[in-house]
Amino acid sequence: MNTKHPETETEKGAHVSQSNPETAQLKLGGKVVDLSVMTGSEQEKGIDISRLRDSTGAVTLDPGFVNTASCTSGITFLDGERGILRYRGYPIEELAEYATHSEVAYLLIYGNLPSRRELEQFTGRIAERYDLPDGMERIFDNFPKTAHPMAVLSSATAALSGYYPELTHPSPTREEMDAVILTLLAQVSTIAAFGYRRRHGLPIIPPRRDASPVANFLYILFGSSANPQQPDEVIVRALRQVLILHADHEQNCSTSTVRMVGSSRANAFVSISAGMAALWGPLHGGANQEVIEMLEAIHQAGGDFGKYIGMAKDKTSGFRLMGFGHRVYKNFDPRAKILKAACDKVLARLGVHDPLLDLAKHLEEVALKDEYFISRKLYPNVDFYSGILLRAIGIPTDQFTVIFALGRLAGWLAHWREMLESPGFKINRPRQIYTGPPERKYVPLAQRS
Ligand code: MLT
Repeated sequence: MNTKHPETETEKGAHVSQSNPETAQLKLGGKVVDLSVMTGSEQEKGIDISRLRDSTGAVTLDPGFVNTASCTSGITFLDGERGILRYRGYPIEELAEYATHSEVAYLLIYGNLPSRRELEQFTGRIAERYDLPDGMERIFDNFPKTAHPMAVLSSATAALSGYYPELTHPSPTREEMDAVILTLLAQVSTIAAFGYRRRHGLPIIPPRRDASPVANFLYILFGSSANPQQPDEVIVRALRQVLILHADHEQNCSTSTVRMVGSSRANAFVSISAGMAALWGPLHGGANQEVIEMLEAIHQAGGDFGKYIGMAKDKTSGFRLMGFGHRVYKNFDPRAKILKAACDKVLARLGVHDPLLDLAKHLEEVALKDEYFISRKLYPNVDFYSGILLRAIGIPTDQFTVIFALGRLAGWLAHWREMLESPGFKINRPRQIYTGPPERKYVPLAQRS
């Protein structure tokens, strides 16, 4: 008999229905096992298998965890079939249109939109922390100029744990969590900008406390040409939207990595650094860099995009169109629709004439009309448009994943904090199905041929 209240308030204020607990039945080895079914606040169903091995001796097998919920979370909801993406219930379309990245970061991390005073305090406390700790700048000198910016970003972020030992406690208080969150929100963007200037042999420009994180990042990146007092509003708005649209995306590879590392109670610096390492992969955050590199290859080969469209349809060609389709969104990526509009505005504003961007427009037109792509849901995704937009505003290709990381940092921190505050917190320890050799005896080396 269910004695719980009809609506149970979870620790994050999310509501999950307990009024009629559903069950799923599993028949295995002559036994029938009842598994409880949880219904999320958007009516998704989750079969609770947390007692499965104890009750049946069996585990589930789900390579890539694509059918497995690793946790409950109140941060982001996406519906791949309907192209819905909401942060704490707010549609991404409204946040991208009206909010600042700092507002969205606060919303993701603390659960609600900040009041004016809360936002002023939040951004002010971040600005106080823009400067890197003494001696930290030497880390940039130890990398060759050819080092990928994500190698520098991930290493330097982990290195912060050596400068802030007081923020590495395995069971941080709320105040310590807030302090490490503010420190990372401030100093990851400083590390990103400093890394860029060192890589290009440019003098370091100290951060300015009177600029927003986005304007400050552009200022440190491009120097006086991006005056934080009169930043080019179209460019700042476009970059702000890129950061907001990339701020969180449920349990994607890098966010799951942050949760995995953080679940051992490793500190936030190294947990975020691990997330950056996962994001670097070309199948994840490196995809927008791959889009531009694909366009460059097509351009250098003469720009015959029709030939590459044909190659994309020919499985034996080994050529794959980067920036099309998505593993979660089945019909369209809501972020791509917003970035497409931003792209058009920035290209018009800057009067950019770039053969790669013309190529991109041709590929987009084909993909949106050609039955082959339509039937396979290979529409231009967020990586396609973010690559074009970042290139148009002068961000070097090798910084694209860094920009993705600056946006996703808010989501990583939100999930890290939510996980540590979860009543059911425990270390992540998946199982496996063993497929190796049966037991066998050791053969001394002298007896081996
Ligand atoms: C993301 O935003 O993390 C990417 O779209 C990848 C994903 O969600 O799996």
